[in-house]
Amino acid sequence: MTFKNYQQLVAQLNCWSHAYHVLDAPLVLDSEYDAAFRELQTLEKQHPTWIVSESPTQRVGDIVSSVFRKIPHEIKMLSLENAFSLEETNAFFLRAAKNLVDLEDFEKLENLLAETAIKKAQELKSEFKEFATSELFEKLPIFSEPKLDGFAISLRYENGILIYGATRGDGEIGEDVTHTIKTIQSIPLKLQTDIPPEVLEVRGEVFMTKSVFEQLNQSANVRSFVNPRNAAAGTIRQLNPKAAMERPLQFIPYGMGAYSGEREFTRHSEILSYFGEIGFKSNPNNHAFWATKTAFEQDYQRMEKLRDFLPMEIDGIVYKIDDLNLQEKLGFISRSPKWAVARKFPAQVMTTTLLDVDFQVGRTGVLTPVARLEPVFVGGVTVSNATLHNMDEIERLNLCIGDKIEIHRAGDVIPKVTKVVAEGETRQNIVMPSHCPVCSSSVQRIENQTAYRCSGGLICAAQIAERIKYYASRNCMNIRQLGTKLIEVLCEQGILNNVVDIYRLQIDDISKLEGQGEKNATKILAAIEGSKHTKFSTFLTALGIPEVGESGAKNLARYFESLEKLRTADIETLVQVPDVGSITANNVRTFFDDTANNQLVDDLLAAGVTWDENKIVENLQPLAEQTWVLTGTLSSPRNEIKEKLEGLGAKVSSSVSAKTTVVLAGEAAGSKRKQAEDLGVKILDETQFLELIESLSK
Ligand code: IVH
Repeated sequence: MTFKNYQQLVAQLNCWSHAYHVLDAPLVLDSEYDAAFRELQTLEKQHPTWIVSESPTQRVGDIVSSVFRKIPHEIKMLSLENAFSLEETNAFFLRAAKNLVDLEDFEKLENLLAETAIKKAQELKSEFKEFATSELFEKLPIFSEPKLDGFAISLRYENGILIYGATRGDGEIGEDVTHTIKTIQSIPLKLQTDIPPEVLEVRGEVFMTKSVFEQLNQSANVRSFVNPRNAAAGTIRQLNPKAAMERPLQFIPYGMGAYSGEREFTRHSEILSYFGEIGFKSNPNNHAFWATKTAFEQDYQRMEKLRDFLPMEIDGIVYKIDDLNLQEKLGFISRSPKWAVARKFPAQVMTTTLLDVDFQVGRTGVLTPVARLEPVFVGGVTVSNATLHNMDEIERLNLCIGDKIEIHRAGDVIPKVTKVVAEGETRQNIVMPSHCPVCSSSVQRIENQTAYRCSGGLICAAQIAERIKYYASRNCMNIRQLGTKLIEVLCEQGILNNVVDIYRLQIDDISKLEGQGEKNATKILAAIEGSKHTKFSTFLTALGIPEVGESGAKNLARYFESLEKLRTADIETLVQVPDVGSITANNVRTFFDDTANNQLVDDLLAAGVTWDENKIVENLQPLAEQTWVLTGTLSSPRNEIKEKLEGLGAKVSSSVSAKTTVVLAGEAAGSKRKQAEDLGVKILDETQFLELIESLSK
């Protein structure tokens, strides 16, 4: 083993780690990574002088003293002005446009405004500024980024090596938190570039994902944090990096501090793409558009819809003028730039009173306590219900009916009760009913779990209704016209008793119901008919086998290709399917071992549910087994292109090797294009790429 081999091992591990933590596209199994990591540890023990700073073993260092070193920021870390409405957002950028006009930078204006507009503006003279301002406003290139609700950090790299990570502090002087920053796997210890800039400060947000936060708060040995932001801040300020390593954080860059390097930038978005190239995570939800009031509104609505589905908490949107030249002209006032604003979401936390607790019966019979609240306006909507998860949660919160409570509307669409603010005058205990509120069957605790379940099975109307709602839902059979309310009514009336009954519905069954005319009924039946032709994987999802969601169903469909093969597959074969473990395999087997389930599946097929079996595999992955590398400036966000390629079965890697199938080279592609040429790897430009994609999707 030579030093060179050692360096190669470090590079290999860093490459795998980047694929896993930054690109979300693992290249090897965890076990393979772990084995190589152990090999590295052994080598470093034998040759301590070999250790390089970018070695993954260097992520966890020693405990630091209780005083963090002060670090002055070469370039101030700014914060942002807030806008709480569309009007305020619009006004902010109108002001920016007016400022630019006031600067009377005609040269720049001429670049941005059409010649005729300038002429017209000059003719109008007195109204020139007003006219030019409104014209210029719509020429402002806006870059929109989710406002990540975490902790601001500045990372300093010198010649490609991470020197320190510092907090924002008061904007001018921060604190050295390098020891915990290094444990964040999506922060490269060494930049992935052959020509590293002499100095580069990467600024961005460190955050904890919602799922890590929930797990952390459930683990007994950690004190509860109020929200992911506090948890991230607490973790960063840990003295012991080992503790930080156990609470995985992530980092997404949003700007640049000090910089001296060869690459030149004219747009903020180019800087972010560059960060992606050199090893950082990019945010797939960034978005570019021209400033108009409608565009701001549409973008806000886009993010508001996305918000609940994002893995991390966001508390608004940051709008920035993308043109760096304009940014420089506008400058900043005191602590915030005149070229960027944060459009904040409405408040998320409120206090209210717990009026009562109901128990809802779900698709699998599990009873979930639901808080009935004194209605309160939070996160932009009036809330009168909140989930309480399970009885343990109620105990943990020490919650009683009548208490004044805090509710939080954040990651989930359904708000959560977070704590008791003040005990009620009359406190009534919350107890799990002994009998199902819907069918009166007995309620039993599920073994080894915190959940309770109604024992009524298919005689329980609630379970039947939930089961049918799930079957008809968007990600399943997608019978849009058959809404949840209608399903409930049809179940209550005994018209729908199982999913097959959907296909037995007659016009009368529906038209006789209140508020449903014949016309509507016809529409609904047509929608049912139209939904019969589906995909194998969709049908599998709709069957509602425990643990088999959309992606599990896709994997099963891809592997088995036909229902008959899946029905008869044994456990050994089932666990061969990617991402299918023994629990899921058992559930699938149990499902198809049940005569009633088999009968149900047969009845559904007899009712006319069909799919094209061959299509599943053929069309799905035309680029399977190919490895692509993206380089240069591309006209759509990289993540979008990456997703598209992955959807077609290709792997997307960040480095070119003999194994690379295609290099997609955008404008100003540099070293990677050269490597591809040297290795004789196929190179496509963006036009050729788009043609290929189009031909594949025909
Ligand atoms: S830009 C000069 N972009 O929000 C502009 N900030 O309220 C500096 N934040 O301190 C900030 N996501 O910690 C920017 N996409 C984003 C952001 C973002 C979150 C935080 C950041 C900043 C605070 C200002």
